[in-house]
Amino acid sequence: MTITIKDDAGIAAMREACRLASEVLDDIAPHIKPGLTTLDIDRIAAATMQRQGTRSATIGYQPSGYPPYPGHVCTSVNHVVCHGIPADKPLKKGDIVNVDVTVITPGGWYGDTSRMYEVGECSIAAKRLCRLTWEAMWLGIAEVKAGAHLGNIGHAIQKFAHANHLSVVREYCGHGIGQNFHEEPQVLHYGQPGTGPVLEPGMIFTIEPMLNLGRREVRELQDGWTVVTRDRSLSAQWEHTVVVTPTGCEVLSLSAGAPQPPDFIRSAVT
Ligand code: MF3
Ligand code: CO
Ligand code: CO
Repeated sequence: MTITIKDDAGIAAMREACRLASEVLDDIAPHIKPGLTTLDIDRIAAATMQRQGTRSATIGYQPSGYPPYPGHVCTSVNHVVCHGIPADKPLKKGDIVNVDVTVITPGGWYGDTSRMYEVGECSIAAKRLCRLTWEAMWLGIAEVKAGAHLGNIGHAIQKFAHANHLSVVREYCGHGIGQNFHEEPQVLHYGQPGTGPVLEPGMIFTIEPMLNLGRREVRELQDGWTVVTRDRSLSAQWEHTVVVTPTGCEVLSLSAGAPQPPDFIRSAVT
């Protein structure tokens, strides 16, 4: 198995797919408030995708051993780590929710990105977790350049997480993406520098760390999808899709409403 290298046309198609996924997140942002349900979020996302002419990669998605995923997006609240299923339970003040969007363009390209949203005023601990997870993602992104090893990304994320007394979920990872949802390589959010494949221009993959306030262990609920922290501690995740360039990387999943990179990154990444 090999990591596909995208040509200029493929990169342009992925730039569009990932921007569209990010614009789905832009459209959700103004709606987030106490009382909104995660099913409402799913409906807002589905409406945006319909307007765009994209479709959801997650609805009906069925890897072997899993039931078909029922949502247009994943909505993961508080101690839900990932793959939370949209439901009619209202969000309440102080909740944190990850919305993870993967769209497929009419041309068959996949764009994948996720953000955290804070519902009303949140605790200092919850806000800190969301911010540090976002910074960890960007520290991973800053490691991406032609000639670097894939393992450098996970190492940077793990080192930062541990320095801040957060744990790193190991069961789920970033992934190559393009004309398939999940391609090689697996992008671990922990590891050792100088290990793994050497990055080449045109490789496209996601970086999507999941960090917990408590222990790293997770378990899957009976619905076959929802992943929660075993100790029920809060978990956060952010996700971008990037393409390796000769000098660094380009973050593809940006849009007008996407948070700007942190100041310590802005110089290093295009
Ligand atoms: N978007 C997720 C990822 O980042 C995958 C979600 S699969 C689903 O890889 F079936 F849970 F939607
Ligand atoms: Co995703
Ligand atoms: Co992903």
